[in-house]
Amino acid sequence: MKTVKLGIAGLGHVGCGLIELVERQAELRLPGKLEIVGVSARSKSRNRPVDISGYRWFDDAATLAEDPEVDVFVELVGGSDGPAKFAVEEAIKAGKHVVTANKALIAMHGQALEKLAQEKDVDLMFEAAVAGGVPVVRVLRDSLTGVTINRVSGILNGTCNYLTTEMLDTGRSYDEVLEEAQKLGYAEADPTLDVSGMDAAHKAAILASIAFTADLDFSKVSVKGVDTVELIDLVLADRLGLRIKLIAEGLLTDAGVVCRVAPLAMPVEHPLARVNGALNTVRVEGDPVGAVTLTGPGAGAGPTASAVMGDISKLFTPTARSPFGRAKHHESRQFVDAEPAERSAFFFRVKLADRPGALASLTEALAAHDVSVNKLLQESADDSDVSPVAIVTHVCSRGDIDAASARVSALEASVGAPQVIPIDAGN
Ligand code: HSE
Repeated sequence: MKTVKLGIAGLGHVGCGLIELVERQAELRLPGKLEIVGVSARSKSRNRPVDISGYRWFDDAATLAEDPEVDVFVELVGGSDGPAKFAVEEAIKAGKHVVTANKALIAMHGQALEKLAQEKDVDLMFEAAVAGGVPVVRVLRDSLTGVTINRVSGILNGTCNYLTTEMLDTGRSYDEVLEEAQKLGYAEADPTLDVSGMDAAHKAAILASIAFTADLDFSKVSVKGVDTVELIDLVLADRLGLRIKLIAEGLLTDAGVVCRVAPLAMPVEHPLARVNGALNTVRVEGDPVGAVTLTGPGAGAGPTASAVMGDISKLFTPTARSPFGRAKHHESRQFVDAEPAERSAFFFRVKLADRPGALASLTEALAAHDVSVNKLLQESADDSDVSPVAIVTHVCSRGDIDAASARVSALEASVGAPQVIPIDAGN
């Protein structure tokens, strides 16, 4: 039976989850045997759910990457640059296959690393970088090669989806739920990457690059997170029959590949509205398959480690094919700037001082920019006499709603910046 020898760098939630899986490999359906020849992390003594005392310790990930014993270097350090990138480059240069869960690294440097891996005839695999335990990279890259894909969309950040779901379900604050998502191992080491939309954007860009054989250019990706979404937005949207979620999408347009991440509101019966908690979902639309949807746990130690293990298990028979599934004869498309969808209905929330005429000044400001109200809901004022108002607009242009929002923001009665979220009717 063939043995594949692993060097594992990064012993956070996913690294420890992987060690646990390797230790119970007899229960898995692996084609051969795995052996851990060394591990590396920032701190050797940190309290961990697994015992690492039986493994060779490396202070430096790059030294582990080059170790002659290592067949496959597993990078679970994280970060687009710095030690993770250096160690991955050193591993490839030393002729090792690389498995990584590092979406930031792949989104920023994936194609340069692909070139290096192809020069060295090694595999670079990153199933765990996108959607945790949902095997979407391989499905897009290997299984859907017979499909002309025109759209890839979905929920790609477990932390943000957990936040919006739990805040609404339990009424707990953003900070409290985010802290819980960190404890559960969903969030990045720096959770601003999650809530800013950056993590989902990294993943969406990777998927778009594979789906559309496009040169990955992260600078063209439009990114908006859930960090401005308040509990009151979720609650009022719910009363208006809407759910707010962070949605990522990659689209093939005449101009090129558009990739964007932003909060969207959607009717409660929309298929994405029912994907809750730390679940991720990816919908691939193309000809002639129609739509394929994959849903599952998008974050957390076990699910992500299982995706890393899936990649490792492929390396019993390395193929050194393009990590992004590209061949020389494929047309290479380009990412282009993502403009927000031009026309839609919008969820619009503002906080108004509770005094006569405040509502009239709001509707006047909307009317001045041709924004027409479809539904309106006003909550009673809180202790500070501020009353939240939520509106579902009729379909209007993004330019008009932005201009109306600026006008509302400048009203004497308005407190803080309004919230403007496009509504995806799901057509
Ligand atoms: N922080 C990520 C998330 C983990 O919440 O989805 C999986 O990449």
